Amino acid sequence: MKYILAPSILAADFKTLGSQMEQTAENGAEYLHFDVMDGMFVPSISFGMPVLKSIQGATSQVMDAHLMVHEPIRYIEDFKKAGADIVTIHLEACEDVRETIAKIRECGMKVGLSICPETPAEKIEHLLADIDMLLVMSVHPGFGGQKFIPESLEKIQKIRKMIEEQKLNVDIQVDGGIYLSNVKEVLDAGANVIVAGSAVFNGDPAENTRAFMEILNAYE
Ligand code: DX5
Ligand code: ZN
Repeated sequence: MKYILAPSILAADFKTLGSQMEQTAENGAEYLHFDVMDGMFVPSISFGMPVLKSIQGATSQVMDAHLMVHEPIRYIEDFKKAGADIVTIHLEACEDVRETIAKIRECGMKVGLSICPETPAEKIEHLLADIDMLLVMSVHPGFGGQKFIPESLEKIQKIRKMIEEQKLNVDIQVDGGIYLSNVKEVLDAGANVIVAGSAVFNGDPAENTRAFMEILNAYE
């Protein structure tokens, strides 16, 4: 399995975003995670298409857009135009999740599907065959810098088992409260794409990325 780090720029210092992104890329972070918040599906507002657009072409990293947005189907084409490679939508935010997944595919992007901490794994079992990545939220979406919810580990294990039983090749991404101190537990549970905001951008992004990659590269 491939283990990937996805630094969340929500925690970056936007005055020097370019150089911080580069430091993560140079040290092995293959994805760049964009936390898009609409003030409706989640209480906070972050940023949207123009931020992706300005980064498009300036990075070799995979642009991983996490849409914490009510009815994201309205914006799928816009995110394609803005340069997203993966679009992750929330099950809880879609009236017709299958139609939303189809729209992402139609636009030629990879499909991510996310569930909040209170949504049980069973709710997505029938959708696994239609997606590329399942994102388990390990905090309540809406803010960076929260504490990891330990019950997420059991959910990750359950979903990894479902993926194996269905003989699928679906990534499990985990997002929220992940640090060098607990990333191993998340990997042990079965996740292979790690989102980290505070743990990468607070302090030295180059050094923090290196430390994460050391763990991820050594993991089997
Ligand atoms: C929360 C976001 C996360 C968050 C991660 O709504 O989806 O991506 O920014 O931040 P940390 O790593 O600081 O918990
Ligand atoms: Zn996120």
